[in-house]
Amino acid sequence: MNILVTGGAGFIGSNFVYYMLREHPDYRIVCIDKLTYAGNLETLEEALKNPNFAFVKADIADREAVYALFEKEGFDVVVNFAAESHVDRSIETPELFLSTNVMGTQVLLDASRKYGVKRYHQVSTDEVYGDLPLDRKDLFFTETTPIHTSSPYSASKAAADLLVLAYHRTYKLPVTISRCSNNYGPYHFPEKLIPLVISRALADEPLPIYGKGENVRDWLFVEDHCSAIDLIIHKGRVGEVYNIGGHNEKTNLEVVKEILKQLGKPESLITYVTDRPGHDMRYAIDPTKIVTELGWKPAHDFESGIKYTVQWYLDNRKWWENIVNGEYKNYYEKMYSGR
Ligand code: NAD
Ligand code: TYD
Repeated sequence: MNILVTGGAGFIGSNFVYYMLREHPDYRIVCIDKLTYAGNLETLEEALKNPNFAFVKADIADREAVYALFEKEGFDVVVNFAAESHVDRSIETPELFLSTNVMGTQVLLDASRKYGVKRYHQVSTDEVYGDLPLDRKDLFFTETTPIHTSSPYSASKAAADLLVLAYHRTYKLPVTISRCSNNYGPYHFPEKLIPLVISRALADEPLPIYGKGENVRDWLFVEDHCSAIDLIIHKGRVGEVYNIGGHNEKTNLEVVKEILKQLGKPESLITYVTDRPGHDMRYAIDPTKIVTELGWKPAHDFESGIKYTVQWYLDNRKWWENIVNGEYKNYYEKMYSGR
């Protein structure tokens, strides 16, 4: 099997590359990545030593480059992780989100049609469903929950999902879509809540919490997301959407306090800052479909996953210190100063 993994130098894509090389040592995995600020070739250092892995630096929206790669490789399966993924950045520069998340997806769909892949899998997000109220713990996102987006990021992901389903209906392209809740784990870029809090707390720097810190996210350890996608591309039904989540709902304050406890750092580092515009209140996934239909089960709960993650950041300081001491410094200043 020859699999194209797009965005494999980012957080979830790189974890998926390692997962697949380990679980399917006979597969060939080719990664295409534009290496934006979020892509890091250092993350793939070990994978690059594996003869079954290849890396190509290119933009998924570059039709010529994408077609040439499909022509050369004859992929069986495409798994599209490549995206602009940060909500706060989408509020600053929505255009970039449309060109990668929507137009890039379209190029990959066209290439998949033209060169006849057996499966095109779109990695989507629970954010396409919008948010749930905090006082209705009985409500969850199912695959039939209406699309109702809040940010340019989620709107671009929803647009891509609709295109993917349209290519199935109109051209019979064999597609699947997964919509996962918030991930955490190794190689998570430190602009996102969990790695941001770990890296800043270790430097005894203030931790910016939006609003009152009451927003709820449903956290899944990244490897459990990878195992779900592996199942879907092998056993998932064509044309279907699968929600992925492990019922690990936490308020942002609960998450931050747990990390501080593990690091032995004081809660006085918590600093409340101006809320994110359009901030979604609560995400919560109902994973019944993938659990009952494909037999997926997450292997990690939040307690074990967050312990592992904090330890990973302690053991791999060089990886994230290179990031936080580089260009990212300017981003942090721009996004958070005067907030
Ligand atoms: P990330 O920002 O860490 O990585 C994105 C990767 O895509 C980077 O390596 C970047 O260089 C690459 N990329 C960006 N634009 C590109 C382009 N035009 N062409 C080629 N490569 C490009 O993101 P992530 O957190 O790993 O998310 C991966 C996917 O999973 C995204 O599609 C995201 O919407 C989805 N998702 C993420 C989460 C989460 O919690 N992080 C949850 C559900 C779904
Ligand atoms: P984030 O990691 O950006 O993921 P998403 O917005 O896609 O869920 O944010 C997770 C939660 O943490 C979200 O409710 C926003 C909040 N947050 C903060 O309070 N402070 C921060 O500096 C960041 C980046 C996020």
